[in-house]
Formats: sequence, C-alpha cells, structure tokens
Amino acid sequence: MKIRIEHLCKSYNLPGNENLPVLHDINLSIKSGDFVVILGASGSGKSTFLSLLAGLTTPTSGKIWVQENEGPEKEITAPHPSRALLFQQPSLLPWLTVAGNIAFGCKIRGEGNDLSYQVNQFIEMMGLYEFAQTHPPKLSVGMAQRVCLARALIGHPKALLLDEPFGSLDTLNRTHLQQELINIWMGERFTAVFVTHDIEEALLLGNRIVLLGGRPSTVKDVFDIPLDYPRSLEDDSFFETKKDILKAFRCAIANECD
Ligand SMILES: Nc1ncnc2c1ncn2[C@@H]1O[C@H](COP(=O)(O)OP(=O)(O)O)[C@@H](O)[C@H]1O
Ligand SMILES: [Mg+2]
Repeated sequence: MKIRIEHLCKSYNLPGNENLPVLHDINLSIKSGDFVVILGASGSGKSTFLSLLAGLTTPTSGKIWVQENEGPEKEITAPHPSRALLFQQPSLLPWLTVAGNIAFGCKIRGEGNDLSYQVNQFIEMMGLYEFAQTHPPKLSVGMAQRVCLARALIGHPKALLLDEPFGSLDTLNRTHLQQELINIWMGERFTAVFVTHDIEEALLLGNRIVLLGGRPSTVKDVFDIPLDYPRSLEDDSFFETKKDILKAFRCAIANECD
C-alpha cells in the first residue's frame, strides 16, 4: 500500500476556544513495502499523525491518500481493516483467550477460511503455544503485545501502523520483538509506519526515518537508511548513522534548524 500525505495540518480545539496546532503542512510519500519510522520528541504529534493515517481522526486541512496495487488512489476518511494499528499499551479483550483475541477481528468481519488453522500459525510464530487458552490478565506485557501483533497481522493488512508498541517492554523483550517484527515485515512486505522517540529503535527498524519537530511539528528531515537487516547496535555503520541522526534530532528538538 502506498500512502501519500499532502499538506496535512491538524489542530485540536481546547476548552475556552483555544486552538492547539499540532501538525503543520506535512508532505510525505510512503512507498509500498517501506518501513518508515516517524521519529519525534514526546508531544510532537506522533500519535496524532498515526491516528490520522488510521482514519481515527480527520485532518484540519490537507489529505491522506492510499493506493493498493496500482488501483485508484483513495482518500482516508475512516478506519479500514487494510490498515491495522498497534498501540503502545496492549489492548486485549480480557474475557477472551489468547486464541480468541487473535481471531476476534476476523470473526466479526466474517473473514478467514480455516480461521483456527491461521490462528494456530500465528500462535506458533509468536511463541505463544503454551498460552493459547490463557486469558490476558495472566500474560506479561511482552506476551500481550505479541498477541496484539498477531491479531493485527492475521487479517494480512496492507499497512501496519505502530505507535511506540515496544515502549513499555524491558530491553530484552523489546530487542526480541523488534527483530521478530523485521522478520515478519521482510516476509509479508506490508507497508509499516512506526512512531517512536527512540533513535536506536528508529535505526534498527526503518529503511526511512522521518524527523518531526517544531511547534507545530513539520517534517524536519528525511533519512534513507541503507543498512542491511538484521541490524545491530554494535555495527560501525550503525554508530556513524546514529551520530548524524542524533545531531538532526537535537536540532529539531531545539527548533534551531530549517
Ligand atoms: N484529543 C486531544 N485533544 C487535545 N489535545 C490533544 C489531543 N491529543 C493530543 N493532544 C495534544 O497534541 C500534542 C501532540 O500529542 P501526541 O500526538 O499525543 O504527541 P506524541 O505522540 O508525539 O507524544 C500534545 O500537546 C497533546 O497534549
Ligand atoms: Mg504518542
């Protein structure tokens, strides 16, 4: 799925008729199969940007278009199962088992021939075999986030939108899930848009990094990251690229660069 963002602006109306501009004139083209990381400080409008891509909120002005397989471009006006969303905190239905949660979306949409076979495949892929019949309150955050990832992927979305999904995990779990996400993306080649404030995470995952900054936020810089996958924090090339991005990031936070 290609995504084209054109003169996108978003402001919130605050109580007392105050207006809070969050995103200003964002222009971006995301190619099909790209792994784009939106990097910005906390409060820079990353979640706002992702909910606009998901169709959960509407732009104040500007448009977002999606295009599948050279078909017609369609404007995003509402959520659609072709664009799956993964939040920072796992959001599972506590009364359903792991298997039930993974199957839930497909079931209510009446999709999926042989759903239980597919559910089992994802349970295996996520290393959740022993927990298939477990209920969410008994899962660790890392496991719960794996279930959310499986639930997002089982519908074979054309785009996966991820809002700092590994932010609340410990380092080991985070590294593991980052690696699994890259493996799955390399296999399925959906378009990924991942937001984070963490430069190392951005560099481990993205083939493009889009830097947001300013008040309201604009696109300050776009970096193409030619490093091969899987990437490692220890690689020299990783370290060099990180220095460049860190410099741009500091500058974007301080709002001193144009
Ligand atoms: N629904 C909302 N109503 C009013 N202000 C909001 C709303 N959502 C976010 N904001 C404000 O918009 C700004 C950007 O928020 P957000 O998109 O959550 O940034 P980030 O995800 O980068 O931390 C913040 O100042 C936040 O307080
Ligand atoms: Mg956020």
